[in-house]
Amino acid sequence: MRHLRVRTPNHFAERIAIAAAALALAWNTPCIAQPQTADQAWLGYRELAVKPEVPGAVASLYRRARSGPGALPQNASDEVLEGAASAQLQSGLMGMLREGPKLVNSGPRIVLVGTRAEFGALYPMIKIPELGPESFWIGTSQTGGGEWDILVAGGDGRGVLYGAFELLRRVSQQQAVRRIDLIETPAMPIRWVDEWDNADGSIERGYAGRSIFFDAGHVRDELHPAAEYARLLASVGINGCNLNNVNNAAAFLEPDMLKGIARIADAMRPWGVRVALSVDIASPQKIGGLKTYDPLDPAVIAWWRAKTGEIYKLIPDFAGFTVKADSEGQPGPASYGRTPADAANLLANALAPHRGVVLYRAFVYNHHLDWKDPKADRARAAYDIFHPLDGKFASNVIVQTKEGPIDFQAQEPVSPLFGGLERTNQAMEVQITQEYTGQQRHLVYLAPMWKWVLDFDLRTENRSTPVKEILAGKSFHRPLGGMIGVAGVGQDAWLGSPLALANLYAFGRLAWDPNLTAEQIAEEWTRQTLGNDPQVVRTVEAMLMQSWPVYVHYTGPLGMQTLTDITGSHYGPNIEASENNGWGQWHRADHEGVGMDRSVATGTGFVGQYWPEVAKVYENVSTTPDDLLTFFHHVPYTWKLHDNKTVIQYIYDSHYEGANEAAHLGEEWATLKGKIDPSIFDNMQRRLTYQAGHAIVWRDAIVQYFLKLSGIPDATGRAGHYPNRYEAEKANLFHYSVIDVKPWEDASGGKAVSCTYEDPGAIELSQVPAGPTFEGNIRSCTAEWKFTGKPGRYDVAVQYFDLRGGSAYWTFLLNYANPESWVGNADLPTNHPHGDNSTRHIIHNVLLEDEDTLEIRGFPDKADPAALDYIELLPASRPVS
Ligand code: GCU
Repeated sequence: MRHLRVRTPNHFAERIAIAAAALALAWNTPCIAQPQTADQAWLGYRELAVKPEVPGAVASLYRRARSGPGALPQNASDEVLEGAASAQLQSGLMGMLREGPKLVNSGPRIVLVGTRAEFGALYPMIKIPELGPESFWIGTSQTGGGEWDILVAGGDGRGVLYGAFELLRRVSQQQAVRRIDLIETPAMPIRWVDEWDNADGSIERGYAGRSIFFDAGHVRDELHPAAEYARLLASVGINGCNLNNVNNAAAFLEPDMLKGIARIADAMRPWGVRVALSVDIASPQKIGGLKTYDPLDPAVIAWWRAKTGEIYKLIPDFAGFTVKADSEGQPGPASYGRTPADAANLLANALAPHRGVVLYRAFVYNHHLDWKDPKADRARAAYDIFHPLDGKFASNVIVQTKEGPIDFQAQEPVSPLFGGLERTNQAMEVQITQEYTGQQRHLVYLAPMWKWVLDFDLRTENRSTPVKEILAGKSFHRPLGGMIGVAGVGQDAWLGSPLALANLYAFGRLAWDPNLTAEQIAEEWTRQTLGNDPQVVRTVEAMLMQSWPVYVHYTGPLGMQTLTDITGSHYGPNIEASENNGWGQWHRADHEGVGMDRSVATGTGFVGQYWPEVAKVYENVSTTPDDLLTFFHHVPYTWKLHDNKTVIQYIYDSHYEGANEAAHLGEEWATLKGKIDPSIFDNMQRRLTYQAGHAIVWRDAIVQYFLKLSGIPDATGRAGHYPNRYEAEKANLFHYSVIDVKPWEDASGGKAVSCTYEDPGAIELSQVPAGPTFEGNIRSCTAEWKFTGKPGRYDVAVQYFDLRGGSAYWTFLLNYANPESWVGNADLPTNHPHGDNSTRHIIHNVLLEDEDTLEIRGFPDKADPAALDYIELLPASRPVS
């Protein structure tokens, strides 16, 4: 009698409850029990093993330079910034050197911080080089008797602050500063993060909990995290923060909200971070009561002028507006037959008297394109719309362009628009939050991708015009320009994943100096965050550097973009989601081949938007680099890549390699046990284990999809053959029912089983596992297989679907004994079995003999039906304990 075997002894119930509680804590609970601070990121300033010779005393020159004859005039902003700089130096140096402020008789004496003007007033004999705004010089001076001071001079208060952080950065990496003599100037004036926070506290495309700024329609009362965020930003030279989502922004201009925004500005100001807001171009109508929002209408012009005045009364150093218009359903000037320049200039004119700027986004496109039209191409949109407007934007407008022509894909070419606006200020928008690149559950260090874009030479007018020089205003002699990073920080330790913080760090460093290398930045970040142990530094730097190519290998190689659910979560595999609709993220895979023909000769003509030297490379299929091949050309699966491998074989190989490489990331991390902070170690280990499993979901989805579509077998025989896999739909099933997973490629063989039956009779009520998580859960389903392989030790991988809306759990039993249970309560997207939530649990070291019974029991909970895809037997990876 079946139901007898599902009886659950009490100790079993306890084990499950304990495991459930532990898992719930481990994966779901954001780290908000402790106050959220910048120390949790790279500003920990822990005691160093090797202590460079640095004075423990710090003094700011601000007050002394303002007393006595010839005193400098008061400057409130410099006073605050220099105060922050010296306090930060004081506490940072104390933390790292574990010494209080002290004066010694010889050797290092004091760190003096001040503006160049203050040094000039007090120490005219010290020769400090010319310094522009935000620049700094760090040097030393001999004071006699073998003593010396460190001098940190800024072109202004911000420069002092950035200099202080640079000194701390060097000391924290155990670098000697005895002979330091260094001038730094930021490459570009606009270095902002954009937050896509909504007033209700949710964050569009945020993967680290709720907003640190907003909740329930208001600015939060407690803004300490906002101040800490500003400290973090200042440490890498970021000087602006746009606070709210580019979509649905109108409510942010309401008077009460603006008062709250002013409090955020107050919290961030001491760190030199100015706040900005996304605005809805239809605000005059939506919240202003006007009948129109036509940018040329006098009443609309007056409304924006008055609203801008109201903002500057509350926030005198307000940075400006960001605009998303005529894009993805947001209203825009097109409704009145006006251009983006009309709308941008309307706002720019209102901001100009206050020295504010407009960041007008070039992410404007029609999302109702005709998929059947071979000439239709979303990639063309930004250039087609903005290039003709070159020279028509006011001098305080900056056109903000995403780095690629589509939308933050795992791999895209550089947007040709950067080379198409010679008389317009330009900024590049990149994403720190990993929307299409694994949503912080996957490790993807993005600096190498950004570096590739920054270094890309667009050969404008056949001369050297790398993107970084265009953004710096050098190529076309523009006064304004910069980089914008969409950050999405939240209450869960800023970005959720400890290693994802390397992306926030790298963004700031590259906006400050795009000539830094991705490796250098990875090393700096690792030393400051995880310590200077050489093995840690070497290993983490290598992991970071591998991570982007690894992700591309198992998601969308050869320029296919991220082959994900483009109308939904943007997370797991869904290869056809981008096809047959108007969104234009097409890859046009069919039975013969894959890719979009964007050539001038036979395709959409997108290639013609590049200047000729670049266009020539992409126009021709044989000169197009393999990693962007299908972005530019439709090629048959049998097309030979530059190393002679066919496209289809590359698709198979790269996915198998990518999944292996993802597993290897976890193995590398494991070697650091005991060498880094255990909470960071455990957190990342969990994420990397999950990533290794999810990379297999990606691999199998893409491989089985292209195998079916192309009909061409994998030369090495892997695709479609899983010799050690036991499919759930082929098991002996008790109460589980077989379902079709959609899209089909997201489950092994397209099918899974789901425990949705309603009969509660299989377990007696008295035997229901106890504990709050399981209250009321009285149902279970079973899948059972006979082992037929070679006897021995195996790891049993269970592939299951962890849906939101419930904490289902699963139990593995061998011969109806030795239960091992786990709970599925990770916060994964999509509420039906799907590649988004297909997850792996591994039971290690199971000794299997002929005819053994392997069993999975699924206990559904609320909306989570304990769905199951398969089990797979893997070689045992751990020695028997
Ligand atoms: C992406 C993202 C949207 C966002 C948009 C934008 O498409 O998925 O959530 O609004 O970019 O940049 O405006």
